[in-house]
Amino acid sequence: MLTFNTSPGYLQDTTCGLPYPAQVTPGMLRPKESRLLHLIAKDYVKPGYHLVDAGAFLGSSANLIASGLAARDDASKFYKSVHSYDLFLNNSDVYEKYTLGTVDRNETFLSLYLSNTAPYSQFINVYPGDFSGFQWIDQPIGLFFCDISKTPQLEHHVWESFANKFEPANTWFIQQDFVHIQAPFTHVYLGCLEQVFEFVALAVPSLLLRQAKPITEKMIRDAKEVWMRGDVLQHLEAVDAVSKRIEPLNNEEATATVRLVKCQLAIQGMRLDLAARELADIKKEHARVVDRHYLARVRFVENRLNTLMAIS
Ligand SMILES: C[S@@+](CC[C@H](N)C(=O)[O-])C[C@H]1O[C@@H](n2cnc3c(N)ncnc32)[C@H](O)[C@@H]1O
Repeated sequence: MLTFNTSPGYLQDTTCGLPYPAQVTPGMLRPKESRLLHLIAKDYVKPGYHLVDAGAFLGSSANLIASGLAARDDASKFYKSVHSYDLFLNNSDVYEKYTLGTVDRNETFLSLYLSNTAPYSQFINVYPGDFSGFQWIDQPIGLFFCDISKTPQLEHHVWESFANKFEPANTWFIQQDFVHIQAPFTHVYLGCLEQVFEFVALAVPSLLLRQAKPITEKMIRDAKEVWMRGDVLQHLEAVDAVSKRIEPLNNEEATATVRLVKCQLAIQGMRLDLAARELADIKKEHARVVDRHYLARVRFVENRLNTLMAIS
């Protein structure tokens, strides 16, 4: 049986183990989650399984995955088994910052991705365009790195078009948007599907899951139904299921952030009373968390709530 290495230092050591090109590719991942991605590819994915890099941007995640494969004794069994998806469009201020003025607004940065990933091109396939237009190639998936759940449609596409090739015990799933409070649908879907996964580790903002049971089409349809037509209490119930599962992983930033996601859902459902109560409790109970990303999330929710309370 596969077990995840939880020895001290396996994820904590952020400097060793990553080869030079993986470290320098510009990207959005924090050191610990970069290491997680590299290690899962190096130590856990079995030959014959494919690795999906959904939301490739400038190639950092692709390089972390491919460099993990390159470090294996059986590396040649993984040639062309990484699949990178992205629009590759310079269409936001954030992307503009990373492309350093080398790409015009709304133009493609695919050439930057290609040159950044050139050292590992023997491992990688690339699919430029809207992710929701791509169907999976019908091969078993050993790793799904999900950095693309930016809209409910994209979230649904992940489950509808890829999960039928996930396998109990053999598929690792990394949800990179786990502490992204503007994507609460990821938590609602995960809450509806939580029983099929082991919750293995947190390398904030990424959550590592391993599939334990089969995912059925009905489960995915039901999750969509809860997101699309469920009321606020159903949404909160789904997120509570996720909270319970991450509790043993002992990460207060993640725990507090998932509670902020509940505030977001309560605000979206115009249950401002619930949101205000939850936010007050979060601020009191998680006052120790001082990470600047977390504090920015608290301010975001607070401002949103205050604005709505002032006009309602
Ligand atoms: C947070 S970035 C990914 C960061 C990257 N994984 C890294 O290692 O730095 C999210 C990516 O999702 C891509 N994206 C957003 N919507 C998309 C869509 N509909 N189809 C394909 N890619 C999309 C964006 O272009 C962006 O590069």
